[in-house]
Amino acid sequence: MKPKVVVLISGNGSNLQAIIDAIEAGQLNVEIACVISDKADAYGLQRAEKHQIPTEILTKQTQETREQYDERLITLIQQYQPELIVLAGFMRILSKYFVETFTGKIINIHPSLLPKYPGLHTHQQVLQNGDTEHGCTIHYVTEDVDAGEIIAQAKLTVNSDDTEETLKQRVHALEHQLYPATIQKYLNECRSD
Ligand code: GRF
Repeated sequence: MKPKVVVLISGNGSNLQAIIDAIEAGQLNVEIACVISDKADAYGLQRAEKHQIPTEILTKQTQETREQYDERLITLIQQYQPELIVLAGFMRILSKYFVETFTGKIINIHPSLLPKYPGLHTHQQVLQNGDTEHGCTIHYVTEDVDAGEIIAQAKLTVNSDDTEETLKQRVHALEHQLYPATIQKYLNECRSD
């Protein structure tokens, strides 16, 4: 039996695609039990459907609190019994309640070398500050945004002609290598405990 993961997205899903490609290339031994999106028009949903991966859309209802949404999300995720929850461009902040339900089982990828630049507009900040290094980080998810323990990082050297767009593309390319490899490593380690 392959370990199951659930992938949470809100948009394009290129990291989801990298995970799917790694599975199909035999480099990642997991089953994506479900892809869940909080946005009905997330392109990543089409990517999943193309590969016969079950999808669910869970949009926020008007007047729903963060905890109420997360309660529905927890119920949905638990139906799939995943060993790991993979956030891949999921744009919602998760409540303490959600995080404590799945402690140590939620990971996220972020486009900066954390602890530098949590939050949005990371490429812009790298350029504004004249940083020579940039990259991406995979970390455990806690209730503080982009602040959980770091699991893995990949770095690149910023070129003098880099723009926000080129950095975005170059960091994405790093992410697409790092995320599948780190998921495999995580599952190897937690299964040998
Ligand atoms: C990635 O840059 C990731 O680091 C951030 O959101 C973006 C998602 O991109 N958390 P995609 O939807 O996987 O293309």
